[in-house]
Amino acid sequence: MKPVGVAILGLGVVGSGTYKILRDHKEFYRRTQGIDLTVECVLEINKQKALDLGIEEGRIYDNIAEVVSNPAVDIVVEVIGGVEPAKSFVLAALHSGKTVVTSNKELFCKYWHELETAARRTNAGLYFEASCVGGVPIIRTLVDGMQANVIHSLTGIINGTTNYILTRMTREGSGYQEVLKDAQALGYAEANPSADVDGYDAAYKLSILASLAFHTKVPLEKVYREGIAQISGQDIAYGDELGYVLKLLAIGKFDGNRSIEARVHPAFVRKDHPLAAVNDSFNAVYLQGDSVGDIMLYGRGAGALPTGSAIVSDVIYAATHGEAKYASFKNTEKAEVGVKFVTDFRSRYYIRFTAKDRAGVLAKVAGILGKYSISIAELVQKGEDAESVPVILITHETTELSVRSAVGKIAALDGVESVDSVIRVEG
Ligand code: HSE
Repeated sequence: MKPVGVAILGLGVVGSGTYKILRDHKEFYRRTQGIDLTVECVLEINKQKALDLGIEEGRIYDNIAEVVSNPAVDIVVEVIGGVEPAKSFVLAALHSGKTVVTSNKELFCKYWHELETAARRTNAGLYFEASCVGGVPIIRTLVDGMQANVIHSLTGIINGTTNYILTRMTREGSGYQEVLKDAQALGYAEANPSADVDGYDAAYKLSILASLAFHTKVPLEKVYREGIAQISGQDIAYGDELGYVLKLLAIGKFDGNRSIEARVHPAFVRKDHPLAAVNDSFNAVYLQGDSVGDIMLYGRGAGALPTGSAIVSDVIYAATHGEAKYASFKNTEKAEVGVKFVTDFRSRYYIRFTAKDRAGVLAKVAGILGKYSISIAELVQKGEDAESVPVILITHETTELSVRSAVGKIAALDGVESVDSVIRVEG
């Protein structure tokens, strides 16, 4: 039986989950995979954490040099997160020819080119299933399950924290700040929630997923990003009345040639869209391939065992495949010359503004929309017997720049007090 030695860097939530899976499934993998996986060592400064998991003292290291010089270690699992020291540790492992499995989306999306170059130099494997959408095998699906297809679109709910917050705002009619505080107390959101609520986490993941789906580098700086902090409970409620659910979507589109769009922002989806039913901290990715049609993957995007599942699956893949598999495209630092990133993307739009309830105001608004060739699909005026009232309109498909220009003009109209929200409507 082939012995395979694993080192785990970091015994946080994911590292501990990974250790437990490897420990508890040892016999199962011997039987089903024909490999004998052993955790040779862990790198963890908090020794007690490792001892509490039952790891022998001699296997608990406190520096990376010990890990990479251990000849019994074949695969290094990096689950520290963030850029440093994770990057130096991963490079040290790759330079010494050890395969790396990582869950680190930020490191991977920012330094993929550098890491892959180092891996290719020593023919080491570099696997990252756990970096995107936790336990959902989206990367394996893209690179091993859908490679027959030209993938034209990828639409995902790929951040569990924001999906949890939006789900609760929808169910309870509560405000963003109130739900965020509660989510922090319950451990669903970090004390500093910015990476999740401002859309960075989803943007890291979309940069990786869109690159794989569209076979060209989609650098982080080409991903348009908006978070959920400005979302009001009022808009969620109005959207609900009109048949929509609000989600933080990650959207990638490819025209089959050189044109790509990549964006993360809140969006309304119709209640009958499959993504509308993805609630709480669950994640899902909806893909459209030219041969297979539509596919949706759904599951847990975070957590010790779900993310550990993705890591150990990569460990098994690496241990059972002789040759490492790298990106299917020229993995340059920046996008390849000739690739065009669309910024004036097309969508439908929900626009809410507050207007004086008097003759002619809506006519002026309609006039501005008409001037920018924006067609109204639905229009609702709320409130009665008030001097100023909220007006909600949903447009037919139009372009981002037309809407931005029109909204600027509408906000300046006599009779319009404020444009309160502009939210894209997708799906
Ligand atoms: N913080 C992420 C989320 C999980 O809320 O989905 C890890 O990427």
